[in-house]
Amino acid sequence: MSSPSDLLSTWARGISPSPTLAIDAQAKAMMAAGHDVCSFAAGEPDFDTPEHIKDAAIAALRAGKTKYGPTPGIEPLREAIAARHSAERGVKAAASQVVVSPGGKFSCYLSILATCSPGDEVIIPAPYWVSYPEMVKLAGAVPRPILAGDASGFLLSASQLEAAITPKSRMLILNSPSNPTGAVYSRARLEEIVAVAIRHNLIILSDEIYEHLIYDGVTHVSPASLGAAAEARTIVVSGFSKTYSMTGWRLGTLVAPPAIAKAASELQSQMSSNTTTFAQYGALAALKETALTQAALQKMLAAFDRRRKLLHSGLTAIDGVTCLLAQGAFYLFPNISGLGLPSNEFCARLLQEEKVATVPGSAFGAEGYIRLSYATSDEVIAEGVRRIARFCQKLKHHA
Ligand SMILES: Cc1ncc(COP(=O)(O)O)c(C=O)c1O
Repeated sequence: MSSPSDLLSTWARGISPSPTLAIDAQAKAMMAAGHDVCSFAAGEPDFDTPEHIKDAAIAALRAGKTKYGPTPGIEPLREAIAARHSAERGVKAAASQVVVSPGGKFSCYLSILATCSPGDEVIIPAPYWVSYPEMVKLAGAVPRPILAGDASGFLLSASQLEAAITPKSRMLILNSPSNPTGAVYSRARLEEIVAVAIRHNLIILSDEIYEHLIYDGVTHVSPASLGAAAEARTIVVSGFSKTYSMTGWRLGTLVAPPAIAKAASELQSQMSSNTTTFAQYGALAALKETALTQAALQKMLAAFDRRRKLLHSGLTAIDGVTCLLAQGAFYLFPNISGLGLPSNEFCARLLQEEKVATVPGSAFGAEGYIRLSYATSDEVIAEGVRRIARFCQKLKHHA
């Protein structure tokens, strides 16, 4: 044991900690120390959980729902998730195909562990959510990112997918609406991609955690809704964190073909057991008390939509910055490659010099971009954009 890393496993030495959580923590620490930070780093809604959801969890707590529950989740919640999943996708999923986990993040990891063996390749369109490659590596599998930049609307094409397939390809990860780009796949594009996945016998991990955060009248389409062959190979991950402002509750879901759901539940039984029992009663209220839930969701969506446009118009007015107006999630992913700094240096200096927290595109496998979350107030957006513009002007001036 000559160095501290001798104490660690191959897994622990190989992992990169989540850069988004790290930057968010850094911004919060600076604020706590009295700095006036405009943070665009948060990966969570800035709204509180709706009251009726909190009330249901409090009532469950008082009613003694404080014990272990069934590993894949309490039955009424699994039934409600299966019913909702089926109605929204035009399929017939059973409650036995549902696993409720401690977060969408864990649902993704379970899905990968349940289906991928060491050496299997997992195709991940980039820009990607930071955790996918790391989770794939933790399963002993091999991440194969394919870049789709802003020129293609951050959307993978069927021919790109076809070209990336090897005899070891096992899984394709799709994430629509996307973190970090907010891009949304159309039905037509998904149909083309899914046809390739079917032809090459790939499993599709469809991370739909932002499925309800979508604007401009665009419809969310799930690969699971594109016919029996697609459904039979698709694992849909979703959860309560983003749609209902429940990030701290740790409630994720997966709906999968029966054999995969069973394996995911068995893995969960050895890794975490059920997620918090009384929290699941809160989730049940989110799905059952639909009028209250819809009212809270619509209020949040209206605010996000307004802020999305505010941030987009501010960013696109800056010389040297271009930005697509994304139609989902709560992120924009502007192109800053014209300003002459690598994205990590750009973000580090922006935080240092202007106290604006953003996340470098390099963390998402896409150099030349930065990610901004607009899950923050209109005031922070207005002031943040002023500071970013000043910073960019300075960079242009010194170029
Ligand atoms: C694309 C994506 N998937 C999954 C998650 C996981 O969410 P949670 O574990 O909070 O449910 C996130 C959260 O940032 C995300 O952005």
